[in-house]
Amino acid sequence: MPRLFSYSDFSGGNETVRTYADKHSPVIICEKEALFDQPFTVKVRIGQSVKHPNAQDHHFQYIQLWNLETLVGELKLQRASYGDKPVHIEAHFTIIPKVSMRLKALAYCNKHGLWQSEEVFVKVEGQQE
Ligand SMILES: [Fe+2]
Repeated sequence: MPRLFSYSDFSGGNETVRTYADKHSPVIICEKEALFDQPFTVKVRIGQSVKHPNAQDHHFQYIQLWNLETLVGELKLQRASYGDKPVHIEAHFTIIPKVSMRLKALAYCNKHGLWQSEEVFVKVEGQQE
């Protein structure tokens, strides 16, 4: 099992440490309620305020979205698609929800490892019992 990092692991550190954590931490952005069987968009953004480098030897390679133990979606990133400058990467996933979800995102930096988001609970209204 690879080591997983999260923003909260570093939140007690100084500004340099918090900046390092911010530019690696995926953040889930979505509504907290969804409708059963209707398209539902989930955004995953890496970093709240700090852009991550996008260099040959230092860039993000993939973003995954999980609902508990189920892989909901995965985006493979080609560095050339983002140029050479630091970036805020944002991935959009569209889900057709059948049940309430406990979403978590993972993002892999080829220099600083695997980072996880906070878990987000999405209640699905109108789901079949
Ligand atoms: Fe990194």
